[in-house]
Amino acid sequence: MKKQWWHNKIAYQIYPKSFCDSNGDGIGDLQGIISKLDYLKDLGIDLIWLSPIYKSPLADQGYDIADYYSIDPRFGTMEDMDQLIAEAGKRGMGIIMDLVVNHCSDEHAWFRKACEDPSGPYGDYFYIREAVDGKLPCNWRSYFGGPVWEKLPGHENLYYLHVFHKKQPDLNWENPRLREEIYQMVNWWLDKGLAGFRLDAIINIKKALPFRDYPADREDGLCSIHNMLHEAKGVGDFLGEMRDRTFLPHHAFSVGEVFNEKEEELPDFIGENGYFSSMFDFAETVFGHSEQGWYRSVDITPDDYKRCVFHAQRRVGDFGFLSNIIENHDEPRGVSRYIPEGEVSPASKKMLATMYFLLRGLPWIYQGQEIGMENRKLQSIDEVDDISSHDEYKVALHAGLSGEEALHLVEKYGRDNARTPFQWNGGPGAGFTNGTPWLTVNPNYTQINLEAQKEDPDSVFGYYRRLIMLRKDPRYSETLTFGAFEPWLAQQHNLMAYLRKGEDQTILIMGNFQPQPQTVPLPGPVGKVLLTNTEAVHADGPFITLDGYQAVVIELKKSE
Ligand code: GLC
Ligand code: CA
Repeated sequence: MKKQWWHNKIAYQIYPKSFCDSNGDGIGDLQGIISKLDYLKDLGIDLIWLSPIYKSPLADQGYDIADYYSIDPRFGTMEDMDQLIAEAGKRGMGIIMDLVVNHCSDEHAWFRKACEDPSGPYGDYFYIREAVDGKLPCNWRSYFGGPVWEKLPGHENLYYLHVFHKKQPDLNWENPRLREEIYQMVNWWLDKGLAGFRLDAIINIKKALPFRDYPADREDGLCSIHNMLHEAKGVGDFLGEMRDRTFLPHHAFSVGEVFNEKEEELPDFIGENGYFSSMFDFAETVFGHSEQGWYRSVDITPDDYKRCVFHAQRRVGDFGFLSNIIENHDEPRGVSRYIPEGEVSPASKKMLATMYFLLRGLPWIYQGQEIGMENRKLQSIDEVDDISSHDEYKVALHAGLSGEEALHLVEKYGRDNARTPFQWNGGPGAGFTNGTPWLTVNPNYTQINLEAQKEDPDSVFGYYRRLIMLRKDPRYSETLTFGAFEPWLAQQHNLMAYLRKGEDQTILIMGNFQPQPQTVPLPGPVGKVLLTNTEAVHADGPFITLDGYQAVVIELKKSE
């Protein structure tokens, strides 16, 4: 694997609407982000991905773009954006934007023109089809529920495709003119000095055509889009073209949000000269997922978690570089998901952090993760903003669950869990805003907030800083960045352990995924303890006894 400028970086995701509000309207904004750049620099962050801040009706919180060339006034202006790129640059940090090009907003000019003249040039920017004898072109279910077809405004018998919300019409990538528009736009942004892009929902840009039905998998007579994705061939032609026309000439970083890729295609995606620099590992995220909906999802256990991570690491081996996460803006908080209920504590949070952070790949922190932010409790579905939560809530009720049970599912899996405002301090509005926050602050902000942790090296925040410093320490960074991954005691219940092996160095990373201590063999004599989340490391000859939820990072003694 050829070394790239971004391989040894630490990346951070900002959800702008909930990060920091500079003007008291309750919505986070670009000036708010600029005011926190020193904070991020101090934490050790190099790359910052912003969820969308383009002009948008915010039907899906900005993942529905009405104009790719302007900033939504709620977030600021283009001058603010230029300032952000420049200020980040001064601090040696790079900005990554969200590239949402599977679809745009139904308020985008292209779509308006398509509605005016479906057989004109803009009609072919979308997938517009006729219903035959009242039957829709196919029976796919949109990711947010209901059919993927919606009536084209102003036309009796015409429908447009939207695999997400109906305010997110899919763009027709088969059309070379559309592709040109996109490459031009990407280059326009890269020319501004962006470090790169995160590619939203990118696998969906290739449709299996012509449209056809697949066997229905629910009572609604519809089928999961996964059927189509499985059949679609040739997404690589689009992705390779985009890479060559945009990212490659700019030496830009790109990270794909890719679900449902075909196993054998992985090297094409992130191998040498792959379509993307990197790709998120979602093996843990999708574990237990059911086509029937959240109400049929299965909880992940520590052993499942380990199996997923190890599988993903082995799959990539050393031909590519994954992007490792425990959460993002579409998922519940990692600590609430991967640590068994009732056992979430500062110690277990640090243990989980250690385990994913030192894997081979690029470590990402999602805003608030570094202070241990957790899922939030709900009194009623009316407190919920997220469109997918509303859909899943209805699906659960329809399946016969009680209101209370359905709400509990939203507490567990809902996307709002990650979207509540960043908890900067214990004051009003959690220091996020002087006004009324657009989404209620998690009431635990009085205990869990940055101010309470910032100066405390033993806090979750203090620990994240140490983890980052360790990854960047010149004595270990080569091994922790490029060293091979090797599982240790993979079969041991409630233990996650692996080695990172460099040229002349082996580092052992171990976490005890239970409140009880456990004693296990070591792969070799202890050289030096590099990090632990508890008081002391009890290593005795060939064995180590880990405290409940203890994590240890140990450099093994070099063999003579
Ligand atoms: C991605 C985004 C998600 C959005 C969807 C549609 O999965 O991460 O937030 O709803 O794409 O753009
Ligand atoms: Ca604001």
